Amino acid sequence: MKTLRLQLRFLLPLTVALVGAAYIALPLLDQVTLRWFSRDLNSRGALMVNAMSEAVSEAMAEAVDGATPAAMSAGAPPGAGPGKPGARPPHHAERLASLLDRAVRDERLFAIAACDAQDHLLHATRAFPEGLGCARSQAIASRQDPRLRLAGGAVHVGVYPVLRPVPDPAFAASLPASEAMAPPWPASAVAVAEEGPPAPALAGRLVLLHDMSFIEKRSQDTRRYLVGFIASLGFVVALITMIVAQVSWRGWVKGARAILRGDGLITPPVNAPQPPPELAPIVDELRTNLRDLEDEYRRMQGPALEWTGERLRQLLQTQLRGDQVIVVSNREPYVHEQGPDGVQVRRPASGLVTAVEPVMRACSGTWIAHGSGSADRAVVDAHDRVGLPPGLQDYQLRRIWLTPEEEQGYYYGFANEGLWPLCHVAHVRPVFREPDWETYRLVNQRFADAVVAEARSEDPVVLVQDYHFALLPAMIRARLPQATILTFWHIPWPNPESFGICPWNREILQGLLGSTILGFHTRFHCRNFMETVDRYLEARIEAEVSTISFQDKETLVESYPISIEWPDAETLARWPPVPECRRRVAARLGLPADVCLAVGIDRFDYTKGILERLNAVERLLEKAPEWVGRFVFVQVAAPTRSSLDEYRSFQERVERAAERINARFAREAYQPVHLLAWHHEPDAVNELFRATDILVVTSLHDGMNLVCKEFVAARDDQQGVLVLSRFAGAAREMTQALIVNPYHVEETADALLRAATMPSAEQRERMVSLRSTVREFNVFRWAARMLADAARWRLRARVEARVRRLGAG
Ligand code: F6P
Repeated sequence: MKTLRLQLRFLLPLTVALVGAAYIALPLLDQVTLRWFSRDLNSRGALMVNAMSEAVSEAMAEAVDGATPAAMSAGAPPGAGPGKPGARPPHHAERLASLLDRAVRDERLFAIAACDAQDHLLHATRAFPEGLGCARSQAIASRQDPRLRLAGGAVHVGVYPVLRPVPDPAFAASLPASEAMAPPWPASAVAVAEEGPPAPALAGRLVLLHDMSFIEKRSQDTRRYLVGFIASLGFVVALITMIVAQVSWRGWVKGARAILRGDGLITPPVNAPQPPPELAPIVDELRTNLRDLEDEYRRMQGPALEWTGERLRQLLQTQLRGDQVIVVSNREPYVHEQGPDGVQVRRPASGLVTAVEPVMRACSGTWIAHGSGSADRAVVDAHDRVGLPPGLQDYQLRRIWLTPEEEQGYYYGFANEGLWPLCHVAHVRPVFREPDWETYRLVNQRFADAVVAEARSEDPVVLVQDYHFALLPAMIRARLPQATILTFWHIPWPNPESFGICPWNREILQGLLGSTILGFHTRFHCRNFMETVDRYLEARIEAEVSTISFQDKETLVESYPISIEWPDAETLARWPPVPECRRRVAARLGLPADVCLAVGIDRFDYTKGILERLNAVERLLEKAPEWVGRFVFVQVAAPTRSSLDEYRSFQERVERAAERINARFAREAYQPVHLLAWHHEPDAVNELFRATDILVVTSLHDGMNLVCKEFVAARDDQQGVLVLSRFAGAAREMTQALIVNPYHVEETADALLRAATMPSAEQRERMVSLRSTVREFNVFRWAARMLADAARWRLRARVEARVRRLGAG
């Protein structure tokens, strides 16, 4: 509607201009056509007079002189008569009249009159207007517009000379003497030329009045056509203009809408279409305003929209009838270790635990995991259960004890030497051994047995976690067909070719397809999985609804980006202030006061890109030597899977790289790299998050990476910069980070430099937005989406079962 109004605003002046042009053009056109027609009528008149001239000139001569040429030739002097019509013998006048009356039968000829050489009217036809006369006719005929308006319409006035014919001398000579017109010619008949043959003499004039009504009709027609033409031209021009305007308007609107939507306003994706250049100046302005508005809006809406543990609990009660929830994972949420001062409780460095533990606290239920702590057995009851979290006992942990051989084959061997590198495609060869596979199967079966043993009904909700339990869903399904099995794969899923490397790829796929819902962090991984199934199994895949039907069972394959628990007011109140964290960290590491601090916090894993980020730090110090002495990088690397060669050699390489950089750039008290290769408890990690200027996450491939989300949650001062690998699932959500390709040392070094020099206002702007995202898309929302989907699925299954029963009955 608005577009139409705008176009009308343009079309109205265009129409007025065209009408104006028509008004100027029409009189001009009239004049031109009149001139053409008058020329035509003149030539027509001249032709008519020419054709009649001999007869008319004779009749005129008779009328004037009362003598025939023969009489003239016999010596009668021309002009002897008085030249007045009344004085002429009647038969002479009749001849002239009859000639003129015959001529006037031409339908276009209105009237005709004959004048003598002295402009006396000899004869006029009936319609010839009285009082027009010969002299006036001449005057009108010589005008540019020789029209005469009469009562019945306009007539064209043309006056044409009538000449006396000149006898051919040769012909005259051939005549008998009695008939010959011998010279000298009468003076009135011939104007004697000085030389050459005699010139014809003027006998009189004919006045022809042509009816102009047909011209006016034609002129009107022409006018009509012209107006029609201008109108059509106007219409076509308007149409083209509207189309062009529409197209460019759409382009504008699209660009403007994209800007208003915020596409590319915060951090434009590399291949994002650019807004039209003419909109560029407002893009910056909008960018700033929109961010503020968005922040404001989110702050206002946040609490209302936010998913909390309480809301999740309600969802479980209302949509899943409060059914029992059982979680299965390899890593346990709390590890009990025997310390010098007795049993200590430790939180493992695990993204899985970070995410799932708050969900379990909200949902209660039972968590089944491998009991790996040295004091784990000491704290469980007779059923290997312990209430957690310590002191609260919101849920039960059921510990499974594995022999060292089982742990070796299932966890270190098949899961971490086989599936982990297979799925991460991080240039470490996967190793698959038959005995590891056998152990993996066996341990999966043991956990399946534990699930069945813990289930209080035939349809519990079982949350199976990660690549350690690919076979578990089908094993549980075999024993508890009514169970709702939600499997979440925390690591990437590779393409079908890569997955084909695994000798037991079909068994793994079949195992996972025992799930009701199979979740990945990203759509990309879902697609990879579906393509892998398509490649290796006979299954029906419905890509549109993202389901796979295999052996009469349907699995929904969906993306659920995992997250963290957003800190509540109580937690925030516990945190030491940011300057205090900074002071403590600086004191512990002996850092200068004005240093720019960058931190990396990971498990000591080759997929985390720790070597690449060290190389980037080194490159930064090479490129920008002014930062030597002022830039410090601290890497926390929690030891993991250290019994595997690949991990040990990786750790050694990292240590060597850190030593190399320190050897190159260390000055007196200044040490550019601090490698803290030991486990840090959550509070210590939080202190580092709050103390640092930059957090560096350079995973070579990561399902999600929750360290970056924990970092932004820790920064309630809205300061700090996140440098984030584009190969981490988190990069899809956390677009306000500085996104890097960790394989590109130069790019990563530049990002570090940019982070080090980023103004506080820009840090705030980015951090506020990142915090809103993580707060809104927190882990309760992640769990809620999965559980809500599961509830829908269960309802559908129950209805279908009822319908089947009715059909059978
Ligand atoms: O990245 C997937 C993941 O399961 C994480 O959730 C967890 O941090 C890690 O792998 C497993 O580590 P670990 O082998 O020490 O349990």
